[in-house]
Amino acid sequence: MSTEIQIESVLTENRVFPAFPELVKDATISGMDAYQALCDEADADPDAFWARLARENLVWNKPFTQVLDASEAPFYHWYPDGELNVSANCLDRHLGTPTADKNAIIFESDDGKVSRLTYKELHARVCEFANGLTALGHGMGERAIIYMPMSVEAVIAMQACARLGIIHSVVFGGFSSKSLHERAVDVGATLVITADAQVRAGKHIPLKSAVDEALAMGGCEALRHVVVYRRTGGDVAWQEGRDLWMHEVSAGQAQTHTAAPVNAEHPLFILYTSGSTGKPKGVQHASAGFLLWALMTVKWTFDAKDSDVFWCTADVGWVTGHTYVTYGPLAAGLTQIIFEGVPTYPDAGRFWDMIERHKVTVFYTAPTAIRSLTKAAETTPAVHPREYDLSSLRILGSVGEPINPEAWVWYYKQVGGERCPVLDTWWQTETGAHMITPLPGVTPMKPGSCTLPLPGIDAAVVDEMGEDVARGTGGFLVIKRPWPGMIRTIWGDPERFKKSYFPPELKGYYLAGDGAQRDSDGYFWIMGRIDDVLNISGHRLGTMEIESALVSHEMVAEAAVVGRADATTGEAVVAFVVLNQSLPEGEEAIRIATELRNWVAKEIGPIAKPKEIRFGENLPKTRSGKIMRRLLRVVASGEAVTQDVSTLENPAILDQLSQAR
Ligand code: PRX
Repeated sequence: MSTEIQIESVLTENRVFPAFPELVKDATISGMDAYQALCDEADADPDAFWARLARENLVWNKPFTQVLDASEAPFYHWYPDGELNVSANCLDRHLGTPTADKNAIIFESDDGKVSRLTYKELHARVCEFANGLTALGHGMGERAIIYMPMSVEAVIAMQACARLGIIHSVVFGGFSSKSLHERAVDVGATLVITADAQVRAGKHIPLKSAVDEALAMGGCEALRHVVVYRRTGGDVAWQEGRDLWMHEVSAGQAQTHTAAPVNAEHPLFILYTSGSTGKPKGVQHASAGFLLWALMTVKWTFDAKDSDVFWCTADVGWVTGHTYVTYGPLAAGLTQIIFEGVPTYPDAGRFWDMIERHKVTVFYTAPTAIRSLTKAAETTPAVHPREYDLSSLRILGSVGEPINPEAWVWYYKQVGGERCPVLDTWWQTETGAHMITPLPGVTPMKPGSCTLPLPGIDAAVVDEMGEDVARGTGGFLVIKRPWPGMIRTIWGDPERFKKSYFPPELKGYYLAGDGAQRDSDGYFWIMGRIDDVLNISGHRLGTMEIESALVSHEMVAEAAVVGRADATTGEAVVAFVVLNQSLPEGEEAIRIATELRNWVAKEIGPIAKPKEIRFGENLPKTRSGKIMRRLLRVVASGEAVTQDVSTLENPAILDQLSQAR
């Protein structure tokens, strides 16, 4: 695949950027020796290490006496007899300390309005809403779907659920009503929390109507209430008794609330993510372990300081927004920015302008954003980062997809002014938080490498039998020992959990689904997915999901979807489609392609739209009928097919697909 080619060129470059030890003198992990000491502590006695971190960093209602229960491995249970509440660990712990009067959230809306909320105020609003939900009869163990824009209210909704032991499942606002429906049915939602609409680049995009559509599809009989945050005040359909305004649910409620202690293993949330087969999987995370790992990584990777202004640009619809917006920064008592809009509105200087105005110190975003802002800065000098005062920045982070060296160096030089480390953080929805990442001031950096695992994380590259491969050799990225922040199971499908992540031949190691190799310094280089999962702008999508969406259209007989390298979005979706009619040409082909692209947007969401659709009379198949995706990837990349095609049933089809554009 193209990603492999890219990685090879990176490895030969192998340029090292020093770690700026002077920048992070009093860092949480204060140098390579301190990092090594933590790694050694974890390796020598993992239970003692994880027990110490959990005791020192979390507030427990009932202390745990056992650290790891592996009796049902790979269904691991962490701190199994302990009790705590995640929201109390994010909010109540700060009351009565100087943090209480500090800004927890600086919210900036799409149109640039800024509002601020201290920890005390945020706590009060979460309590009001939690009391309101209780009055409606919602509580422990129920599942709530949250389908909201980036807002203070989204954080309040998630935190209120956590306070009550309601398991939330956030669905990204860009997903369609069909995707929303699938998730609401799968979790058996009793409650949906949404907004009338979301605002992006000046446009109002309805959310409540998508919820109405999803619920009308049936199968959501457990649902009792739809709570609606009034964002735009636009018209919405209303079902009396079921639908309630969020501000009315909170109105008149007490601003104090005793958070419900839950067992450490009580599910905190379910977040759907794409796998290589079938429908998206509901990744289930547990309360204590997830929170501990979110908090530790905010402290270690981002070197959290009381004076920081932290900004993670991720949407709460993704895991990054869970770990590094709703939970980690609050547990650490940081001031954070929450941004409603898009990086290119009103112009592509928005991020830089916000960093300047809010004096952001730690900035965490995705390579896709960096690449598109690089392009914009090249064509429009007024939005180049050099036009802004970015001197407040001290740490830059990257997340969600491979960052190519060009983007890394641009970020480092143009945004960080060659003063800030760039942390290429590797992790996944399933890992809960960072796993392999440089530490600021500690780890020398190589653009394109996520460098070294965090203390306690036993990452390795192995072959198909689970044996370590030699340095410089590619293999499967695995984590050999369990860690508290790990996925507990797939909601409702424990067998799939075992099969996907703990295949028997891999000796019980956690299989990440990424290919990787280590260089002579032991640094990890991620080589892309080993399965049929695509990464479009940092969004994870299964090729099978998109194929199923395409074949559900009446005109489509067969479809195969592959990824191709894209200069901005990392990967782009290319679909090869066989229609139930003769091969379309010219205008007709364009019209059908547009219709199919919109169909995919409706079935899954706009992020899944194929960038390119190629029509053929057939697909390249082996004599046994298997689609040769490997060859389709080559065709999609525009390269000539040089592989052996003698096993193909119909080699001529490759020419047709190569020409069809
Ligand atoms: O392929 C890896 C890629 O994103 C996948 C995880 O996607 P998701 O669960 O949506 O989580 C995204 C936010 C963490 C991984 O399997 N990925 C993530 N971070 C990196 C990465 N690939 C290369 N380098 C990274 N830093």
